[in-house]
Amino acid sequence: MYTSVIIPAAGFGERMGSAIGKQFLVLNGEPIIVHTLRQFQRADVIDEIIVVTREESFAMLGQLIANGGLTKVRPLMKGGRTRQDSVCNGLSAVNERCDIVLVHDAVRPFIAREVIAQAAEAAAVSGAAIVAVRAKDTMKLAGPDGRVEKTLDRAFLWNVQTPQAFRLSILRDAYALAASRNTAATDDSSLVEQLGIAPVIIEGSYDNIKITTPEDLLVAELLAPRFS
Ligand code: CTP
Ligand code: MG
Repeated sequence: MYTSVIIPAAGFGERMGSAIGKQFLVLNGEPIIVHTLRQFQRADVIDEIIVVTREESFAMLGQLIANGGLTKVRPLMKGGRTRQDSVCNGLSAVNERCDIVLVHDAVRPFIAREVIAQAAEAAAVSGAAIVAVRAKDTMKLAGPDGRVEKTLDRAFLWNVQTPQAFRLSILRDAYALAASRNTAATDDSSLVEQLGIAPVIIEGSYDNIKITTPEDLLVAELLAPRFS
């Protein structure tokens, strides 16, 4: 089973508000993206890593990859306007032997190798698998007027993370359908769901945060030593 992972890393990090893309901010002595890539480099199930980033970052990231001994990383791919565009560019570069493809945000450095393996294996069996954690908060559905319409049953609610893992043909079909219908989504599973496929949920860990806003960096500094 040849398994590829696409790492979208072409965002601007507007919500972080930092001068450089948040994927390049230093955490526990190293850029966030290096922590993320190292987890996939060390995961036995992963055969190749496709990183998608903005062209202006190619030289700097190439240096980080070389210095970090990240030998599974293939030549860098150019990012697009949205995350979806970036993943789509990454999809065009996967090895022709690829059976299973994972997609993982560059800004989720605390992904455990066991979870990477579980996601890949579940996709091999079921076609599509996503990593998620049980919702901690009570969740409400509001109307456009900002008033509560109803309280959802937390037992059935999940906070979705990455990686998300798919049989390559399924993810390619999903992206083709999205292109033909002009649909936009913030995760890959949503596009696969449009094919009528129900991905299985792998219960992950609350550690696997997406570094999005400045307070996430404070939490990340506390979590980092556990993953180095
Ligand atoms: N991403 C990407 N291409 C884009 C936009 C986002 O590859 N055009 C990547 C980001 O680099 C990140 C991941 O998708 O690794 C998740 O996106 P998000 O957390 O939204 O990051 P940003 O888009 O950089 O942040 P913001 O939305 O606050 O601008
Ligand atoms: Mg974004």
